[in-house]
Amino acid sequence: MPSPAKIRVAIVGLGFGSEFIPIYQNHPNAEMVAVCRRNKTELDACADKFGIAKRYTDFDAVLADPDIDAVHINSPIPDHGPQAIAALKAGKHVACTVPMATSKEDIAEIVKLQKSTGKTYMMMETVVYAREYLFAKDLYDRGELGRIQFLRGSHQQDMDGWPNYWPGLPPMWYATHCVSPCLAILSAAGKPALAESVVCHGSGRIREELIGNYGSPFALETATFKIAGTDVCAEVTRTLFDVARQYRESFDVTGAKASFEWQQVEGDDPVIHTKNSAETPRLEGQIPKRVKVPDYADRLPEGIRKFTGVIHDATHLSFVQGGGHGGSHPHLVHHFLMAALGEQPAFPDAPTSANWTLVGICAHESAMAGGTRVAIPQF
Ligand SMILES: NC(=O)c1ccc[n+]([C@@H]2O[C@H](COP(=O)([O-])OP(=O)(O)OC[C@H]3O[C@@H](n4cnc5c(N)ncnc54)[C@H](O)[C@@H]3O)[C@@H](O)[C@H]2O)c1
Repeated sequence: MPSPAKIRVAIVGLGFGSEFIPIYQNHPNAEMVAVCRRNKTELDACADKFGIAKRYTDFDAVLADPDIDAVHINSPIPDHGPQAIAALKAGKHVACTVPMATSKEDIAEIVKLQKSTGKTYMMMETVVYAREYLFAKDLYDRGELGRIQFLRGSHQQDMDGWPNYWPGLPPMWYATHCVSPCLAILSAAGKPALAESVVCHGSGRIREELIGNYGSPFALETATFKIAGTDVCAEVTRTLFDVARQYRESFDVTGAKASFEWQQVEGDDPVIHTKNSAETPRLEGQIPKRVKVPDYADRLPEGIRKFTGVIHDATHLSFVQGGGHGGSHPHLVHHFLMAALGEQPAFPDAPTSANWTLVGICAHESAMAGGTRVAIPQF
């Protein structure tokens, strides 16, 4: 029997954040009660559009409202850590867009507070609910890829013209989209695969006027990290400025029996390479095969299944992958609500979100130190 209980949600930050409003409004276990952004005119425009009565320009006022159970944070990156900390202290469940935070201290504090308050914390990582990831995970769990031999993630985006906190941001500070699938695919219920150490190199150089903002000179950062308790190594590549590449958010799984590659150019389907063997004889030209991936809408309550399809007023990245980052948004909302209701653990939970984010933070530290190995703090 599905639970009739409802979580009363406030969304903070209404750029990307506004894409989640209709999903909560159509979820049987959510009440979309309030929205928050600092600009009153823009706040009212958004709240009017979606028919939301409670409007806040001040984040602290959201936290002081006893009729709000959960906040979904979609504010600029530097605010994620401090806002998640304040929200947990105020006794709210927290969903927060990526990355979890930009400092090791804030990350440790969030993990500690989640544990002491018992509230749900979930980093809303889109890639691990994107249809391409769900497809690869299914293939692996069913044994069709065989043993995983290597994993590779990549996230390339041209951030010229984006708001003030972006110019010069160290590429690896926003690495969760390429790190997370590499770790999530090896995770099982209650047994997350975690990165233990990372080595990263910086390559190239961005414009001088961008370097000063964060003291980070690299056009590209490429990292390899070891996954604890396995013999698997993963490699991730990030670019943000002064690199020519269409948007790419992808990962490849290299398996002993078959490999999955999501090295997409917009509109291309992913590819499966199947090993030539006595069981599956293949001529060289028959090894790669493009595949259509399903949308996994059947995993969701009826009312929000439509959101795995095309989002019509998307202003951000969804044009690249369709349906809000591979159709991930309704899956994220559903998983978060079920976790807040105590029906299942958050995924990623606070320690896992910490590990995924810390790979990037430690990777940038490694690149700045010329490629030394950096141990990833464990919780
Ligand atoms: N695939 C993904 O997971 C994905 C995609 C896009 C954006 N994001 C993340 O979402 C976040 C927002 O991205 P965006 O492009 O909408 O950014 P944006 O700068 O356009 O919007 C940020 C919003 O937050 C509001 N805001 C800022 N400070 C606030 C405060 N103190 N209190 C309340 N509201 C505040 C702003 O008014 C604005 O509405 C970023 O952190 C970004 O990393 C994630």
